Amino acid sequence: MLKERVETALNQQINMELQAYYTYLAASAYFEERSLKGFAQWMYHHAQEEMVHAMKIYHFVHSRRGHVVLTAIAAPKQDWQSADDVVGDALEHEQKVTASIDAIVKLARSEGDYATDSFLQWFVDEQVEEEEIVDDLLQKLNLIGDFRPGLYLLDRELAGGAPAEEEESAT
Ligand code: FEO
Repeated sequence: MLKERVETALNQQINMELQAYYTYLAASAYFEERSLKGFAQWMYHHAQEEMVHAMKIYHFVHSRRGHVVLTAIAAPKQDWQSADDVVGDALEHEQKVTASIDAIVKLARSEGDYATDSFLQWFVDEQVEEEEIVDDLLQKLNLIGDFRPGLYLLDRELAGGAPAEEEESAT
């Protein structure tokens, strides 16, 4: 059985992952509307991953005979000014998720709930990767700055159609 405090924290984490899903979906829409299909695809794919994260916790709570409580998901930000504005927000969100996961691990340990501690180790590892890939994208955008062709090329790279690869296959 889950301890009440752990159950509450896991339910809050489900909400946070669904919030992340919504945020990445909004980001995908932002890029779709600007015909940056590679970015849109990347964000859409990431939104799907966030749904998987939420459902992992959802199933775990049930497997421990816990009670899932779904709460309202706030409307995501959509008035971004630029690509790096979007990705900067995504990184900030990932950092909050990492802090939240760490706090639940700490809580589970203090409650002697080693099953939840063990379950959350997947998320601890996942967050290292999540922060790294979003930060990597942000660094690339910072390098590009206002150089629009750079943004175009990065978009193509994200869509899986890097020009260098195409040139090689054309020769
Ligand atoms: Fe599920 Fe990107 O954190």
